[in-house]
Formats: sequence, C-alpha cells, structure tokens
Amino acid sequence: MTITQERIHAMASGFQPAKTILAANELGIFKLLAGKGLSAGEVSNALNLDAEACGMLLGALVGLKLLEHKRGKFHDAPDVKKYLGEDSDEGMSCILRHMNHLYESWASLDAVVKKGRGKIKAAPKLLSDRKINRDFICGMFEIGYPTARKFAEEVDLKGVGKFADIGGGPAVYPIAIGEKYPGINFVVADYPNTIKVARGYVKKYGMSKRVKLVDCPFFDTADLNIGDGFDMALLSQVLHAAPDGKAKGLLKKVFGILRPGGKIIINENARNDDAFSPAPPLVFAINMLIQNAGRTFTVSELKGWLKESGFRKVGARRLHERSVLVEGTRP
Ligand SMILES: C[S@@+](CC[C@H](N)C(=O)[O-])C[C@H]1O[C@@H](n2cnc3c(N)ncnc32)[C@H](O)[C@@H]1O
Repeated sequence: MTITQERIHAMASGFQPAKTILAANELGIFKLLAGKGLSAGEVSNALNLDAEACGMLLGALVGLKLLEHKRGKFHDAPDVKKYLGEDSDEGMSCILRHMNHLYESWASLDAVVKKGRGKIKAAPKLLSDRKINRDFICGMFEIGYPTARKFAEEVDLKGVGKFADIGGGPAVYPIAIGEKYPGINFVVADYPNTIKVARGYVKKYGMSKRVKLVDCPFFDTADLNIGDGFDMALLSQVLHAAPDGKAKGLLKKVFGILRPGGKIIINENARNDDAFSPAPPLVFAINMLIQNAGRTFTVSELKGWLKESGFRKVGARRLHERSVLVEGTRP
C-alpha cells in the first residue's frame, strides 16, 4: 500500500475516534440509547454527565455514524444496538471496555520505548482486579466465538473424548466445539478470577455437565494437576502473555497431561517467518510490551519450541490474520 499524507494522518489521528467510541461505551451511552431517542439533556441527566461535554460527545458519535440525530433526539444508528446496546452473541461492549483499560498504558508507549518494559506505569491488572478481569474475559468471548466456531469446523476432532483447554478464559472453545461434538468432555484450567467468569458462560450455554472448570495458575505451578490421558490440549492466545521461559515450561507441562498419540494445538496471533508480516501480530506485540510481559512469535519459533518439548508431527496453518494453529503430537 502506498504511503500518502492522508494515510499517515488517518493512522496518527486514529486514537481520536477510538477514544470517542471507548468513552461512549464506558459511560453507557449505547445501552441508554438502545432502541430509543433522547435529547442531549436527557442523556446527560440520565448518566449524570456534564451537559456541554455530553452534547459534544453525542455530536462526535453522529459524525462517526454510530448515532443519528432526528428532530432534537439522538438515536442509535442501525445495527449499533446489536453490537453495543445490548448483551447479544454479537455484542462488543466488554472488548471495548477492555480496550479502554489498555488505552492508558498505550499512551505511555514512547516513554516505555525510552526506558524499557515495566519502568513506566503499572499495567492493568488483567488477572487480579475483578472488574478488569471480567471485561477482559468477557471480551475474549465476544471476539473469540467466531474463531472458535471456525476451529470446530476446520480441525479434525474425530476420536477426541477428553479435551483440555489451558488458559481457556471464558471456555469459548469448549462451548463452540461442544455444540458440534456432543461426545467430547472438557477441562478448562485458568486463574481463579477467570474461572469465576467462565462459570457464567458454561452455565448459560448448558455445558456445566461437560466442562470441568479448574482453578490453576498454569504459568506459575510446577504441574497442572488437572488429570492426564487427554486426547487433545489447546493453548489459545495464551503463550504470548508470559516470558519465554514460562511459555516453554507450559509446553512441557502440557506434554505431560496428553496420552501417547495425543495432540497439542497452539492458537496464536503469530508472525509469518519473515518476522514482519502480517500487521496484527506486530502491533499486538506492542500491546504485550506495554503490559510488561510477553511478545508475539513467528510460526517457526513455535514449531521449534514444540519439537524441543518432545512433540512430533509438528505442523502449522493460518486460520486468519490474527490466528495461526500450530500443532504437534506426543509420541
Ligand atoms: C487472551 S486470553 C485467551 C482465552 C481463551 N483461550 C481464548 O482463546 O479466547 C488469555 C488467558 O490466559 C490467562 N492468563 C494467564 N496469565 C495471563 C497474563 N499474564 N495476561 C493475560 N492473560 C493471562 C487469562 O486468565 C486468560 O484466560
């Protein structure tokens, strides 16, 4: 793509529309306006906002085509209710709240690049703060469900009866896979607050009998302690959050819970082997830099780590720009 003045301006000013939609979501404007029309004064009163500032924010949202303004009232634009105004399978309000938590750390990027990781500002407490964790994990359901359904369509799960999802977050993979494969039972291992959020999803999707949820700080324990003899283990969007040593250590722990012939599948926002494409994992690496831990990997790096951990028949394929599946088999 050619670099033009216009393109540089669009990239550099991208934070302005981003923060406009994040602030409106955080303040509850889309939920308030879901399916109804209110004046600026009614919105600012209902949400206890400054009248002038609220009017300007509503105007910017009209400019961005997220709201419409008719006869003195603000309304949500078509489809905005489905994504931001209500809790639906296509809802996105949690992932936007998660982005809003990350936004502050991103603002310090230049300072982080000067001083290095962990020197500038504490990262949002994604695991230990209940609210931040809930927004993060619910957000993972919102953006993970389409990929999890694609996974269930494209990965051969015939013969799998026992499936471990390490760092399973909201249990989005067991839920999507379970819909297609009624014979599979799942164990989801994750940090305690995350497991509390997962419990709500597993119940909502009627999977409580088939998904066992286990408190397991998997990067930090010597063993996983979730049983063994698994036919398949998934590590989806997990390894990038840890320093290399802990990530490699986790692969060895997963090796230990699989039966001989059992498969590990890693799903990562991985870079191609040229190291500099596609764009999403390169920018996502910055997201890990500002959170003080983790990075993104090339596909070959992940394949090499699997081989080092004892896996054989190692292979990889890209599902989409933010998702590469790397798999191996325990001999
Ligand atoms: C990005 S989520 C992925 C969730 C799920 N596997 C998916 O693909 O949607 C990462 C998971 O790893 C866990 N985790 C452990 N240590 C973490 C850390 N330092 N940062 C972020 N997540 C961490 C979280 O509880 C979370 O469930």
